[in-house]
Amino acid sequence: MSEAHAYAQTLGEEQSVWFKISPFLSAENPMEVLMRMSERRGGCFPVKLKSEKIFFLTDIEHIRHVLVDKVDNYKKYFEGLKPVFGKAMITIDGSLWQKIRKPQQPFFHPSVYEDYYPHLMTAVKSKISEWSDLAASGEEVEVLEQTWGLAADMACRALFDREMPFNPHAVFGAVKAYTDPENHKAIRAKKVSGDVNEVSDDEDAVQAISAWLSLPDAVTGAKPLSDREQTLLKMLEKAEADTEAPEFDHQQVLDEIKQYLWAGTETTALTLGWIFYLLSQHPEVTEKICREGEEVYGDREPTWEDIQKLTYTRAVMLETLRLYPPAWALMRTADEEDEIGGHKIAPGDKVVLSPYMVHHNAKYWDDPEKFDPSRFLPGSIKKRVKYSYLPFGAGKRFCLGGQLSQLETVLALTMLLRRFRLEYAGDGPAKFGASVMLTPKGGLPFKLHALS
Ligand code: HEM
Repeated sequence: MSEAHAYAQTLGEEQSVWFKISPFLSAENPMEVLMRMSERRGGCFPVKLKSEKIFFLTDIEHIRHVLVDKVDNYKKYFEGLKPVFGKAMITIDGSLWQKIRKPQQPFFHPSVYEDYYPHLMTAVKSKISEWSDLAASGEEVEVLEQTWGLAADMACRALFDREMPFNPHAVFGAVKAYTDPENHKAIRAKKVSGDVNEVSDDEDAVQAISAWLSLPDAVTGAKPLSDREQTLLKMLEKAEADTEAPEFDHQQVLDEIKQYLWAGTETTALTLGWIFYLLSQHPEVTEKICREGEEVYGDREPTWEDIQKLTYTRAVMLETLRLYPPAWALMRTADEEDEIGGHKIAPGDKVVLSPYMVHHNAKYWDDPEKFDPSRFLPGSIKKRVKYSYLPFGAGKRFCLGGQLSQLETVLALTMLLRRFRLEYAGDGPAKFGASVMLTPKGGLPFKLHALS
């Protein structure tokens, strides 16, 4: 049985929490349903699903309890996503997690971002050239495909010293096919009705997983761009060869690469996509971003120092991450008995922590539905309640690439918006399709117009 085939058997498993909560997620506006439940039932509310209880947590005290105070009692829950991540750092716990994360941390320390900057700039310039052609053709584009390709190219160049060695359209379409639990339903239905015992090789799911599993080899096999001394990829390869680091076996290295190609790309892609969507309704904000660029770096290319000065552009990004946090739900499984908000938590119970619900809670944010970048301008940030802003998680499992993604997003925004006007071409307001990530249902179609 091929690796892709074996992974495909795990899709649509009854015990997958993603699969179990999919009835909520398929509602017209799943976030509204969850917000209403939270208002009615409090900051920790259980949902009983067959033999299992899932607790939704929306109060910052409970979130701190799980992510910080009792972090070792709440293990990562990644069932159903194994084909994407395997045993990568993001999925594991305890001393193994520490051993895997520690040597990779220096590649995400802010001190190295200045070295990454020219490589990020190259990726953005290549996107500008592609958009010039698209604008000239008048073609409608799916902006998330565009931003996903850009985010993947930035990650490949900065972290692996490679040009993106795959076609993002094909690959990310494939990933979506199995990170969206809705798509597992067909497989589940066939299994329940007894039509199939196992997923056959010609199912779309197997093809999708094969495409995904081929990526790490495509990255390692591609020609290095500049033979930089220190890259994350070189570190991983050295660790694999190091007999004193047995935890970094070949599979671990492949899985770490896959992790960056998804957790480090779809998130940034969605952030950019949601920003473009919000800006299409707030042209005055787009204007301010362009004006800030003009004032800080005029007609030349922005330098590393210039990017640090784009405080308004950065505030727009942070406010978008508040309204539309791509990782809208973080999942954990309780190891030992515990109590949260008066509810008894049994070993094996799942907890779902929702940055979305915290970000939209009037207890923590004034007028939470309003798009107001000024909340994040220097000075206002100090007034924020701790743990009320969680787009990158919190505690020791805080996102490793959060700062890199912020740099990528601000750079892409300032460069692209000064060259193109983006016209939203959707049929009515964007709707939520909450899968593992908070995605717009049916995508975000746009027309690109080159600015003279
Ligand atoms: C807007 C962009 C991003 C968002 C919203 C985001 C969000 C998150 C969140 C919420 C977590 C914690 C998950 C949990 O606690 O269950 C996380 C973990 C992680 N993220 Fe990000 N992320 C982004 C970009 C990136 C980038 C660019 C990279 C790397 C290139 C990255 C790599 C990781 C890794 C490796 C972890 C696992 C950390 C660990 O378990 O120790 N992320 N991310």
